[in-house]
Amino acid sequence: MASSARANVLVVGGSSGIGLATAKLALTNLPRANIVLVSTNEEKLQKAVAELKATSPNEDALIDHVVGDVSRIASQFNDMEAILKAAVARFQSTIDHIIWTAGAYPHAPKSDHLTNDDILEVAGARLFGPLTLVNLGKKYMTDSRKSSVTLSSGIAIYKPRPGSGRLIGIMSGFESAVRALAVDLAPIRANFVVLGPFRTAMLDRFAPDEAAIKAYADATLFKSVGEVDEAAEAYLASMRCSFMTGSRIDSDGGALLC
Ligand SMILES: NC(=O)c1ccc[n+]([C@@H]2O[C@H](COP(=O)([O-])OP(=O)(O)OC[C@H]3O[C@@H](n4cnc5c(N)ncnc54)[C@H](OP(=O)(O)O)[C@@H]3O)[C@@H](O)[C@H]2O)c1
Repeated sequence: MASSARANVLVVGGSSGIGLATAKLALTNLPRANIVLVSTNEEKLQKAVAELKATSPNEDALIDHVVGDVSRIASQFNDMEAILKAAVARFQSTIDHIIWTAGAYPHAPKSDHLTNDDILEVAGARLFGPLTLVNLGKKYMTDSRKSSVTLSSGIAIYKPRPGSGRLIGIMSGFESAVRALAVDLAPIRANFVVLGPFRTAMLDRFAPDEAAIKAYADATLFKSVGEVDEAAEAYLASMRCSFMTGSRIDSDGGALLC
């Protein structure tokens, strides 16, 4: 299928938080951007699409969604292919950028309390999911160095908490794979963003009160958690810089320097 003159952006995990903020920023900063959001929850997706339509500067932008679960290892090839096909059908063209901000966390933070099944469940959305989507994605993407894939990581991988070893092993696995993906996908580019603390539904789960939020804030150079549009700028840089591939981009408020 031929590419269009538009920038078709697929945001996997785009119904809230950093993914939604990235979609918003793409609409205002990429020439003639179209957006398709993917997540598990139809209601959240409809709300997110309505929010993007209300704020988009381009009235003719396509803003749509696809319901999909990216965590199920057993059916992952079929699930990912279905998402990619649905996105291409919505865009009526190939995909230019894939942003992956879908996440999953185990019920307990410490590896000691987790079975291998618990860890495999996290791996579905954290390791196999992005690798499968990107691997299959090449044939649905515009074959150009203007195209990109951007995955999401976090500072916990570089500053691991005690007891998180087995989990971090799974959550960090794709980082080294990104360099291989950059080689496999070329000229399409592949990068990943390392995120510090941003106030989203996900952070609220780990920091349910102000004291816990302050602890995350104090672990940055700015003594503050980030705004989601500050995270989104890192994904935009990955989409826009057509000579950047296999790279790590940090948006962490200097947390890795503290
Ligand atoms: N916020 C932070 O401080 C922080 C720090 C480090 C790393 N990160 C990473 O940044 C990414 C974005 O997180 P966020 O903070 O923006 O959290 P968020 O608001 O909870 O966003 C997560 C997104 O992933 C979707 N999702 C979850 N499970 C999914 C599944 N199985 N299949 C498809 N979509 C799924 C969610 O939508 P549905 O609920 O509708 O499925 C939602 O759109 C995550 O990978 C997270 O681990 C965040």
